[in-house]
Amino acid sequence: MISSSQDIRAVIIGTGGYLPEEALDNDAVAARYQLDTSDAWIVERTGIRRRHIAAAGQMASDMAAEAARAALAQAGVDVSEVDAIIVATATPDSAFPSTAARVQAKLGVTQGFAFDISAACTGFVYALSVADAMLRARQARCALVIGAEVFSRIVDWTDRGTCVLFGDGAGAVVVRATEGGERGVLSTHLHADGNHADILLVDEVAGVVRMTGREVFRHAVSKLASVVDEALAANGLQKSDVKWLVPHQANRRIIEAMGKKLGLPAEQVVMTVDRHANTSAASIPLALAEATRDGRIQQGDLVLMEAIGGGLTWGAALARF
Ligand code: COA
Repeated sequence: MISSSQDIRAVIIGTGGYLPEEALDNDAVAARYQLDTSDAWIVERTGIRRRHIAAAGQMASDMAAEAARAALAQAGVDVSEVDAIIVATATPDSAFPSTAARVQAKLGVTQGFAFDISAACTGFVYALSVADAMLRARQARCALVIGAEVFSRIVDWTDRGTCVLFGDGAGAVVVRATEGGERGVLSTHLHADGNHADILLVDEVAGVVRMTGREVFRHAVSKLASVVDEALAANGLQKSDVKWLVPHQANRRIIEAMGKKLGLPAEQVVMTVDRHANTSAASIPLALAEATRDGRIQQGDLVLMEAIGGGLTWGAALARF
């Protein structure tokens, strides 16, 4: 007999990813956009070697639907069971309808609700947090939580300091309300500080990404370290309890710093930034899809996710798979 919402956990039962067909390595990007940069500079500062770029006309909802189909297939869940679709994106198809509503139609889902979340690169952690709360409040039973981005449409391709950092793609998870058991989201921890909005934003006039890289780097290292401590403390867990760190993929140096802070060997830190670059809200679910499908993340493993992005926003989530 279930007596309270405390007894429900949001369990991640499937993951899926989608990357556009076209992949450009650093030399190809430099040549196409006539950038004064080099593969050596980009690799040394960021760890990025290549990124995928959406085709003309390919929208966030197209990629989101592909990732969602893969996640549903892995979970063995039919579209008739999906009663919530939450899409985290900074590059929605349009202001409205939401990208999530577009995904709903593309998947052939006719029940439940759908909406988008805007928290830039922290979007997936925010979306997972909202889904977790809604499932535990019995507002839905089976949610698709998706991050989908086409940053190639909003970067300034003449600004070598930002355009080389981003890529396109989508990742999705299926989250099911489950009564009892050890599996599921243990806790989520969200933060924002709009006083730092200007260090990473889409310029209102030009409509392109502007970033003060050094400042963002400085905030990333300190804020991610503190939110990770917060997540572990909230659950009475030690660093050594974490089996996998699945961080937002912005920069190899930031990821390695977090792995080191947690005392995790490199093998327990999931890294995709070398091949995907920064896909913003899509980066964590893409990394989850890769590491569950290649057999690294196993059922029962404790996974720590963390992200920081424009807003500033930042957050962490702990989940037992
Ligand atoms: N190729 C070659 N040179 C470049 C370059 C590129 N792609 N981008 C910038 N430079 C140059 C700059 O023009 C500058 O030249 P100058 O000294 O002649 O003015 C020099 O490199 C140093 O620039 P700076 O921005 O101070 O470099 P950095 O060491 O801070 O590295 C980042 C830049 C962006 C890689 C780094 O700041 C970073 O990773 N920040 C965090 C970004 C991030 O994670 N954002 C997403 C968060 S969700």
